[in-house]
Amino acid sequence: MIKKLRHALTIKYTLILTCLLFAGLIASFAAYRHTGFQLLQSGLKSYLAEEVQEMRHALKAGTFAEDIRTVKSSVKSMHNFTYVLIDGKIVRAERPFDEAAANQLERKLSSGKYKSGKIYREKVKGWRFLIAKQNLGNIEIFVAANYSPVHRNVRAYAQNALIAALIAIVLSYFAGGWFAAKSFDYIEQSYEKQKRFVSDAAHEFRTPLTILYSYAELLEYAPEKSEIIADIKDEIQQMSDMVDRLLAIARYDNSGAVAHFERFSLTALAQSVIKPWAALYPSGTFELDGNGVEITADKTMIRQLLGILLDNAVKYTGEDKKISVSLAQKSNAVEIAVKDNGIGIERDNLPKIFDRFWRAEAARHEKGLGLSLAETIVNLHNGTIRADSTIGAGTTFTVVLPQNFR
Ligand SMILES: Nc1ncnc2c1ncn2[C@@H]1O[C@H](COP(=O)(O)OP(=O)(O)OP(=O)(O)O)[C@@H](O)[C@H]1O
Ligand SMILES: [Mg+2]
Repeated sequence: MIKKLRHALTIKYTLILTCLLFAGLIASFAAYRHTGFQLLQSGLKSYLAEEVQEMRHALKAGTFAEDIRTVKSSVKSMHNFTYVLIDGKIVRAERPFDEAAANQLERKLSSGKYKSGKIYREKVKGWRFLIAKQNLGNIEIFVAANYSPVHRNVRAYAQNALIAALIAIVLSYFAGGWFAAKSFDYIEQSYEKQKRFVSDAAHEFRTPLTILYSYAELLEYAPEKSEIIADIKDEIQQMSDMVDRLLAIARYDNSGAVAHFERFSLTALAQSVIKPWAALYPSGTFELDGNGVEITADKTMIRQLLGILLDNAVKYTGEDKKISVSLAQKSNAVEIAVKDNGIGIERDNLPKIFDRFWRAEAARHEKGLGLSLAETIVNLHNGTIRADSTIGAGTTFTVVLPQNFR
């Protein structure tokens, strides 16, 4: 799915870029062509004015004479040609070297279709002329400028720009693909994580549901067995705990999650979290160290965090539990340590315990969400959490919450 999306995005961006490139190309080509012709036309007009002026002088001075000559010129060079016609007949000319082109041009000029004050474009045997004309009585004066080199330049410009645009499109396709791949890496990772989370969660729900189903069947055949109801309630309680944790993780994980920071006594909070546990075990099982420790944090989250660590300490410690909670106010942080004398965690497993749904015994029916939620809470407080453990001797979880993060 992600791959398809990445490909679609790359194609879309390349298309957008292609359209932009072509729009720019057409605009710059039009501008280039327009200014080129503008220059040629104004040049032609002033040249015609000069020729007319000369003609006037010659007429006045009586030096006007018929004179038809060929000018050394080629289609590749810019050149102006002048024609003077009296009663439609050429009497004076500076004609192109190319005989065929000159003849055809002259036929056109003698056709009488040109008007004064206008500029015409004519294509004659591969030559391109801009033509302007002015009358002096019955005398017609024509100037024809060969603009073939300009035309060729404009065409070469368009071709080069087109090639450059095609190269740019191919490059942008690859560059776009590379950038899309880079930015999609992160999305792909979190998408995979999310997918695994959902499938793990679904899997975890299946076990208690199967158990509940078998209890229901048992009840069907032996309705008097009321202890089954207690088991059902226990199972439902576990499922509802799991749902609560899943919801909390989903909520806190969301980058928009807001922690409600307040100043409160961590010592008092720890006391209130330990109290219900202490009632269930012999006195001396729990110990709280650290008086008058204050903290700025989200109180509900810290209560959850302590609950998770205490729950584990109790659950993973056998007889003769000794569980201690130490609180310490450092210069710019608060440190919480929860220590037990339980089964311990293998060194190799230490990096995995914060993973969602990870547990030391794969077959055991447990949820494995506690430490993951604990880590999420700690991260929201910009803090750190780590575990130190010795197999058979016990485990200590240490949380450090900075106090200058706001
Ligand atoms: N204090 C501890 N001593 C020994 N092992 C521990 C301790 N705390 C956690 N672990 C190990 O880390 C695993 C993950 O702990 P976590 O709290 O995330 O899940 P859980 O306790 O299995 O289930 P849940 O907390 O969701 O009820 C546990 O299954 C256990 O193997
Ligand atoms: Mg736990």
